[in-house]
Amino acid sequence: MDSQVDQTPHETHVFPPSPEFRNAAVAGPELYAAASADRLGFWADQARTLLAWDTPFTRTLDWSNAPVAKWFDDGELNVAYNCLDRHVEAGNGERVALYWEGEPGDSRAITYAELTADVKRAANVLTNLGIEAGDRVAIYLPMIPEAIIAMLAVARLGAAHSVVFGGFSADSLRARIDDAGAKLVITADGGWRKGKVSALKPAVDAALEPRGDLPAQDTVTNVLVVRRGENEVGWTPGRDIWWNDAMATAEAEHEPQSFPAENPLFILYTSGTTGKPKGILHTSGGYLTQVAYTHRNVFDLHPESDVYWCTADVGWVTGHSYVAYGPLANGATQVLYEGTPDAPHAGRWWEIVEKYRVTILYTAPTAIRSFMKLGRQIPERFDLSSLRLLGSVGEPINPEAWLWYRHVIGADKTPIVDTWWQTETGAIMISALPGVTDAKPGSAQVPLPGVSVDVVDDAGVSVGQGDGLLVVTEPWPSMLRGIWGDEKRFRETYWSTFGDRYFAGDGARIDEDGDIWLLGRVDDVMNISGHRLSTAEIESALVAHHFTAEAAVVGASDDTTGQAVVAFVIIKESQKAEAEATDVAAELRSHVAKQIGAIARPRDIYVVAELPKTRSGKIMRRLLRDLAEGREIGDTTTLADTQVMRIIGDRVR
Ligand code: WT7
Repeated sequence: MDSQVDQTPHETHVFPPSPEFRNAAVAGPELYAAASADRLGFWADQARTLLAWDTPFTRTLDWSNAPVAKWFDDGELNVAYNCLDRHVEAGNGERVALYWEGEPGDSRAITYAELTADVKRAANVLTNLGIEAGDRVAIYLPMIPEAIIAMLAVARLGAAHSVVFGGFSADSLRARIDDAGAKLVITADGGWRKGKVSALKPAVDAALEPRGDLPAQDTVTNVLVVRRGENEVGWTPGRDIWWNDAMATAEAEHEPQSFPAENPLFILYTSGTTGKPKGILHTSGGYLTQVAYTHRNVFDLHPESDVYWCTADVGWVTGHSYVAYGPLANGATQVLYEGTPDAPHAGRWWEIVEKYRVTILYTAPTAIRSFMKLGRQIPERFDLSSLRLLGSVGEPINPEAWLWYRHVIGADKTPIVDTWWQTETGAIMISALPGVTDAKPGSAQVPLPGVSVDVVDDAGVSVGQGDGLLVVTEPWPSMLRGIWGDEKRFRETYWSTFGDRYFAGDGARIDEDGDIWLLGRVDDVMNISGHRLSTAEIESALVAHHFTAEAAVVGASDDTTGQAVVAFVIIKESQKAEAEATDVAAELRSHVAKQIGAIARPRDIYVVAELPKTRSGKIMRRLLRDLAEGREIGDTTTLADTQVMRIIGDRVR
C-alpha cells in the first residue's frame, strides 16, 4: 500500500499518487505556477483552450460593477455547440456521450452524433413553441437522457433553464416557476424509483392550477411531456404536448447562434437562511470555462478512454456542472443512471460500474456511509478494477468513510479528490489535483490553481493557521452573477460580511500543512445527504399546518445523512384535542414532505410546550441542537426563561 504515516502530532496518513498515476496525469504542478504568475492570464488561457468562441474575447474580467462580475464579456459562443457539434466536427461523433441505464434495467448508448441530432430537434421544438433567447424554461424530469437534451436545447437557444429536482413538491415547483417567470415546463409522465413508477405530471398540473392572484398559469403557455413511466396522466388540451410527438415532426437541422459570454445559462434554486429559496444565476462563458477546466483537471479526464460517472441528479448543481456541462464540454463518455442505489438490489451501483467499466466515480459521503453500513461483501461481489479515481462532494467526508471508499471501492490504489464548492460557486473551488497532491483523508485540501481563498476571523483577519470562516478573495469565472430578481439579497448574503470578499457560509480550519478542513455551515442552513435545506423553510412549512402554533428546526448530526432534520413544535391550544387523537409526528412529517419534498421530511418531531428564546425573542437553536444530539446543554444564561430547557429536555428523553 502506497501510504505513509506523516510525522505530525496528529498522525495524519497521507496518500501520494502512485508514480504511474502521476506520470500519466492531465494536470501537473505547472498549473499552480502558471496561475500564480498571472491569474487572469491563466483563466483567459483556459477559456481559449477549452472552449470554441465564435467571437474571441479581448477582456478577461470586468469587476468594475462588483460584486456582479463580467468574464470574457466581449466574447461570444454557443454553449450547446461547445458541448456537442464541435465534438462531432472533430471526428468524435461515434464516441458514446451517454450510457444511460434505466432503473428497471433498460439501457441506451447515445453517441455524440446522436445527442447532437436530438438537441437540434429539441431546439426546433422549443422554437416552435415560441421560446427565444432570454426566456426561462422550467425542467422537471427524472434522470433520463431527455433531461440533458432539454437543458442543452434551452442553452442552444440562448434561453435559461431552471431545473427543479423531481423530488420537490408541486408547491416548490410552483414557487420556482413563478419566481423565474417560466414560459414552458418540460416534464415526464413519470420515472422509475425504487422498483415502481413515480408520477411527475400530477405535480406539474397542481403547480399550474389557477390559484387566486398567483401568476404561474399566466406565464406558462405549454407543458412538454416526455413518455417514460407509461402511467396515465391528466391532460390539458392546447397546453400539454407529448415530447415524443413534437420531436418526431420537428426539423432535423438547427444552426446554433452565438450569444454573449454573459448571457444567462441557468437559474438554480437553493436554500438560504430565510424561508424563500434563492434563484442562483449563472451565465455562459465563465461558467463553461471553469466547469470544463475543473472536470478535466480534478478528475484527470482522458476523454478517449475514460468512462466517468457522477451519481448526482440533474436537479442539483452537481448534476448541472458535472453531469451536463463539464463532461459534455470535454467530450467525455459518461454513465447516467435513473434510479436509486438499492433498486432492484443493494449492489446496483457496483453492477453498473462493472457493466460499463467505469473509471472515474464521483459521489457523496452520505452514499458511501450507507454502503459502509451494508457491508463490503456487497461491492466485493463485483469487478471494480476499472476504477482509477474517486471523488466526493456535498459535505465533509469523515476520514473513516474516506478510508473505506479508497480501500473497498478503490482497491487501495485510487486517488480520492474531496471537492468543496457550492451552487453559488458553480464549479469546484477547493480540491486536490490527483496527480500532484498527497491526499489527506477528511480535508478538501487546497484551492485549485486560479482560485484564491482564505480563512478569516469574525473581523476578517486571516487566521493563518486555525479555525475561522471561509472566504473567496478574488472573483472566479463560474461565480454566481446574482440572485434572480433580488440584487439586495445577493449583496447582503455574500458581500456584506467581509466587503469584496465572498462569504461562503462555511466554517473552516487551516492545519499546519496549510490544508483546509471544512467544518460545516455557520448559518441556519442544514446539509442533509449533501442537500441544502434551510431551517426557516421547514419551520414555515410546519406552521402552515393547522395544528402548529410555533416550530423550531435544527440539523442534528446523523451517522448516514450527515445531518438530519429535527423539529420542535408547539401545538395550538385550540387544536390540542384533535392533536391528541392523532399521531402528530407522523402527520407533520408527511405534511412537510408534501409541502417541500421528501428530502425535507423531519427525522424526529417533538411536541413541546415552549421553545428556548432569548429576551429579544430569538429562538436559540444551538440549545435545541445540543438536545437533539444528546449533548450536555450549553450556556443558557441568555434565555428569557432559564427553566425552559429542562422542561423541553424531559419531552425528548
Ligand atoms: C454546501 C454547498 C457542491 C455541490 C453540492 C452541494 C457543503 C459541499 C463539500 C465538501 C465539505 C462541502 C458546504 C457548502 N459542501 N462540498 N467537499 N466538504 N463541505 O452544493 O447544495 O450548494 O451546498 O455544501 O457546506 O457550503 P450546495
